[in-house]
Amino acid sequence: MKQATSRIHIAILGSGKGSNAHAIINAAKTNDVAYEVSVIITTRPDSGIAEVGRGQGIPVEVLSADTAENGDQITRIADDYSIELLVLSGFMRMLPTSVIQHLHGQVINIHPALLPAYGGKGMYGRKVHQAVLNAGETVTGVTIHWVTEEYDAGAIIVQETIDILGLRTAEEIEGRVKSVEHSLYPRVINEMALRLEESKN
Ligand code: GAR
Repeated sequence: MKQATSRIHIAILGSGKGSNAHAIINAAKTNDVAYEVSVIITTRPDSGIAEVGRGQGIPVEVLSADTAENGDQITRIADDYSIELLVLSGFMRMLPTSVIQHLHGQVINIHPALLPAYGGKGMYGRKVHQAVLNAGETVTGVTIHWVTEEYDAGAIIVQETIDILGLRTAEEIEGRVKSVEHSLYPRVINEMALRLEESKN
């Protein structure tokens, strides 16, 4: 892997367990990674992702319950930590357009299915896996995509298909999907950070 000269500062924004955040932080512990996780942004101080951040010595910023304030909050945090790439993982609110504009569109999200299938408002986490199971699918997948002002509708960066034949519960599907997410997301983030770094030279 190419050696990065200076690391791109990223923020991870989420409200869930934080397993992806953990994988992204762990992957950055080697010298040849082009990004560093500068801050975790969450909606609840007691969320799993907040625990992950504190456990790893990474600053945790909590958004207010009044979503009207979130745009200004996130842009302030992005400036405070010199964020160049915002990474969503299990963020259950709509990201304000002002944030996407402020970060020049450098905002990505991971979705636990093969978008555009099983996406859109209200489709997150276990609900997605339950819908996939109910439909009798034998494959599902992971999608990493650019974030726009519409839920799960931004251009797709990468998709990976996952065989779920024989899996009987949404929990089992979630486990298999997450294990793919944990290797795919850090890899894609690193590639984007390298590209951002190169665009400066
Ligand atoms: C991940 O599986 C991610 O794909 C999903 O939430 C989970 C967060 O898990 N995102 C969505 O469903 C977005 N619509 P984590 O908190 O353990 O990383």
